[in-house]
Amino acid sequence: MKVLVTGGAGYIGSVATERLISNGYEVVVLDSFYMGHREAVHPQAAFVEADLSDKAAVDAAFREHRPEAVMHFASHTLVGESMQHPFLYLGDNVRNALNLLEVMVEHGVGKIILSSTANLFEKPESMPIGPDERVIPGSPYGESKAIIERFLHWLQVTKGLRYACLRYFNAAGATAERGEDHTPETHLIPLVLQVALGQRDAIKIFGGDYPTPDGTCVRDYIHIADLADAHILSLQALETRPVLTYNLGNGNGFSVKEVVDTARRITGHAIPVEIVDRRPGDPAVLVADATKIKAELGWAPQFPDLQSIIQSAWNWHNGHPRGYAG
Ligand code: UFG
Repeated sequence: MKVLVTGGAGYIGSVATERLISNGYEVVVLDSFYMGHREAVHPQAAFVEADLSDKAAVDAAFREHRPEAVMHFASHTLVGESMQHPFLYLGDNVRNALNLLEVMVEHGVGKIILSSTANLFEKPESMPIGPDERVIPGSPYGESKAIIERFLHWLQVTKGLRYACLRYFNAAGATAERGEDHTPETHLIPLVLQVALGQRDAIKIFGGDYPTPDGTCVRDYIHIADLADAHILSLQALETRPVLTYNLGNGNGFSVKEVVDTARRITGHAIPVEIVDRRPGDPAVLVADATKIKAELGWAPQFPDLQSIIQSAWNWHNGHPRGYAG
């Protein structure tokens, strides 16, 4: 099967491409390099340099490559940024998804896996967050994904589109060849590892007064290879089921301080910290109940613990101290 991967030069999309190819799929990567890296694109993938805002270019890519399914990663993805620049999210994310979906429908491409997010749940009634939790987006970013999930629903009803919404918690870690390299970097684990590499003096902890055991925010970190495998299992399951919705995490929450302590043990570096003000939009605790995808699709994470996730990230950052630039 041939799969078109939007954002296949980015962090999660490039690893999904890697896993698709190692599982025997043909892949067409469509990426604008807005955030992605040419070096992250798998050498066996066909490549189209295009922005999803350019519908004619997307149409041409479908005409040339004739994909049978789509994995849609290309997106603005930062909760904090979306609070400052809502139109990047309510505008670009939504319009770009609409362009993609219109082209898919025009070309009769009937399956899509959407990168969705834990930011759909601002005030969850249960923790870990289960499959039936009510969607109340926590930011314009979460709202943009909620809107796209609704588009998928209506395209299923009206056009028979088959779709999976995968609601990720905190994607982290690396494979041997592909890791996390954002400019600017805002994510906790790569920033902590930059301190260990001597590229930053200290890590700023955003808030030490949350209602959590040590006062810092708790998150559910999930390895990107496990995330990628969930996409492939979902794609296979769409053969028999038209709609899939899953929360993706390991079901274990770790505080910011626990992440730093784990990184200290792995790197042998002291990693100084400084507690600063809370970051707007950060909920205290986000942990996934992923039993539904385990039960329905047999998803079995290979990196279910924080130690192995951070170790894999450290291996990559050590080998690529300047990210994909070297
Ligand atoms: N943090 C710090 N200092 C930093 C960076 C982060 O203390 O320098 C803290 C944050 O406050 C948060 C935790 O570390 O509590 C994780 O922050 P990240 O920025 O790494 O990740 P987020 O939880 O903000 O967001 C990520 C993705 C989103 C996704 C969300 C879902 O970036 O796309 O997980 O849980 F929606």
